[in-house]
Amino acid sequence: MSPFLLTRTLPEDATDAALRADVLEGLTRTPKTLPPKWFYDAHGSELFEQITELPEYYPTRAEREILVDRAGEIAAATGARTLVELGSGSSDKTRHLLDALTDLAVYVPVDVSESALTQAGHALIEERPGLNVHALIADFTGALALPETPGPRLLAFLGGTIGNLLPAERATFFAGLRALLSPGDALLLGTDLVKDEQVLVRAYDDAAGVTAAFNKNVLTVVDRELGADFDAGAFDHVALWDSANEWIEMRLRSRTDQTVKIPALDLAVDFAAGEELRTEISAKFRKEGVRTELSTAGLELAHWWTDREGRFALSLSVVR
Ligand code: SAH
Ligand code: TRP
Repeated sequence: MSPFLLTRTLPEDATDAALRADVLEGLTRTPKTLPPKWFYDAHGSELFEQITELPEYYPTRAEREILVDRAGEIAAATGARTLVELGSGSSDKTRHLLDALTDLAVYVPVDVSESALTQAGHALIEERPGLNVHALIADFTGALALPETPGPRLLAFLGGTIGNLLPAERATFFAGLRALLSPGDALLLGTDLVKDEQVLVRAYDDAAGVTAAFNKNVLTVVDRELGADFDAGAFDHVALWDSANEWIEMRLRSRTDQTVKIPALDLAVDFAAGEELRTEISAKFRKEGVRTELSTAGLELAHWWTDREGRFALSLSVVR
C-alpha cells in the first residue's frame, strides 16, 4: 500500500450543509452559540499551533512531558499495531508514541482539518520511511468508520480536546468509542486538570492576543463560507472560569449594537452592545470524574499519569 492515504468520510458539500445548519441554529437561539469544530480552517489550525507555543498555554508542554516519560509504559501495556488518533492536528506530540510503539503497522490520524492532516501526514512519512499513514477527514462526534487495520488498536485522544465537549456530549462520545474497541484495544485520553483560576484564565486569554485571534477566526470562517459580514474588530474575546461547571468558557462580546447579515442563510442577526456569543468550553477534570465518565461507558481506568506539577493527566484504559 502507499505509505500515505487520505480518506474523506464526508463529501465537501456535507460539511457546507453542516456549517449552515449549525450557524442557523446557533445564531437564532438565546444565548447565541457557534460550535467549536468550525475554528479549524487552515488559518485556525495554524493559530492553534501558535497557541501551543505560548508561555501561558501550559497544556501542550505538560502533556508532552507525560508522553516523554510514559510512552514506553504505554507501548508495553498496549502492544498496539494500529494507532488511531482523534483530533490529531499537527501530530506533534504523537511522535513520542510513534517512537515507542515498535510493532506499529499503521497510524490513523482523524481530523476535520484537511490542511492539518495533509501537512502532518506528509511530514511524518518523510521523517519515517517505514510508517504507513492512513489519514481520515472526519468529525469525531459523528459515527466513525475506521479502516480495517491490525489489532491491538490504541485510540489516542490528546490535547484535552475531550473538554471541548459538554458532559452529555462526552457520554455519547465515550459510548461510541467503546463500541469501536475490541478486547485488547485501549484508549489513551488527555485531560487538563482543575487548578488555580488565574492560571486557567491566562491560558485562554494570552497577553499576545493569539487566543483572541483564534476565537475570532470562527467569524472569518462564517464570512468566507456563508458570505456573512461579521467584523471581527467589533467583538471582544472573553475567557472566564465557570466554577460550578469547572470549565473555561470562551465568548465573543459585541462592542456595539449591530446587525450581521448572512446571505447564504437569508438571515440578519442582531447583537446588542455587550451581548455575548458562546464559542467554546474547555472543561477541566479531576481523577474521580474521569474514572466515572469512563466506567459509565464500560471503560476501566487502568493508569493515571500526571506531569510533575500535576497540571494535566493522561489516562489509559485497556478493554478486557
Ligand atoms: N491533538 C492536537 C490538536 C488539538 S486541537 C494537540 O494535542 O495539540 C483540536 C484538534 O481537533 C484540531 O486539530 C481540530 O481540527 C480537531 N477537531 C476539533 N473538532 C473536531 C471534530 N468534531 N472532529 C474531528 N476533529 C476535530
Ligand atoms: N483543546 C484545546 C483546549 O481546550 C483547544 C483550545 C485551546 C481552544 N485554546 C483555545 C479552543 C481557545 C478555543 C479557544 O485547551
